[in-house]
Amino acid sequence: MIYAAITAALAAGDRIRHVFGTELAATEHSAHDIKLVADQECQKLIFDLLLQMHPDSACIGEEGDIGKPGAPVEWIVDPIDGTMNLAHSIPHFCVSIAARDAATQKILLGVIYDPMRNELFTAERGSGAWLNGAPIRVSKRDTLGDAVVAVGFAKSKESIDHCMKLYQVYGHQAKKLRAMGSAALDLAYVAAGRLDAYIEQGVNLWDIAAGWVLVEEAGGVMETEQKVQGKFRVCAHSGRIDYPLK
Ligand code: IPD
Ligand code: CA
Repeated sequence: MIYAAITAALAAGDRIRHVFGTELAATEHSAHDIKLVADQECQKLIFDLLLQMHPDSACIGEEGDIGKPGAPVEWIVDPIDGTMNLAHSIPHFCVSIAARDAATQKILLGVIYDPMRNELFTAERGSGAWLNGAPIRVSKRDTLGDAVVAVGFAKSKESIDHCMKLYQVYGHQAKKLRAMGSAALDLAYVAAGRLDAYIEQGVNLWDIAAGWVLVEEAGGVMETEQKVQGKFRVCAHSGRIDYPLK
């Protein structure tokens, strides 16, 4: 199955790389968010490829769901994570694809592809985490004062207010704070030991599903809690540092 996820992620990433830096049409503007035609086009491309290779599966995505009800495997897809960055020609975004066992709801594998750096992060449950075929592990740093922490800005007033409190805490206590604009890449970077932690409240399953298995397979910890309207609070880290406010 990971072959299908990789094929689809590379194909969508290729398409995004080709339109990067051009004027991109939006389908929706709202407070703190934008949706692009490219989001829908890439999701269709990904779903078509996944269903061609695994016709018995179902697809859940940021731009809507399709597939067989009762299918044993569900794909969880964010066609472009970091859409705001792409819309502003900031080269930091990715394609995120996970597969979940429908019966147990366990995430089986995750693939995150950064088309601008040609970095492909992959993990299958029980088989480790990889970046372009080389194994990755979470950071070994063990004090908050040495840690680089990414705090994601979600979209609702409640989550932005919470984020401001996190900024107060981690701005002072961590080595450095980052807000990079792609939850999936933040998780991939925690898995690769680049970031020590990623914290956000108000993310969706498709933002974090692939990164979830990457972080765990790289030896890290995913603390998650599902809040109102299915949104998640997440703190992903190496397991070596206690993060006071999440
Ligand atoms: C968003 C990004 C962002 C995070 C938001 C997400 P999108 O996803 O991952 O970093 O802070 O919570 O919704 O809209 O670019 O797919
Ligand atoms: Ca997303």
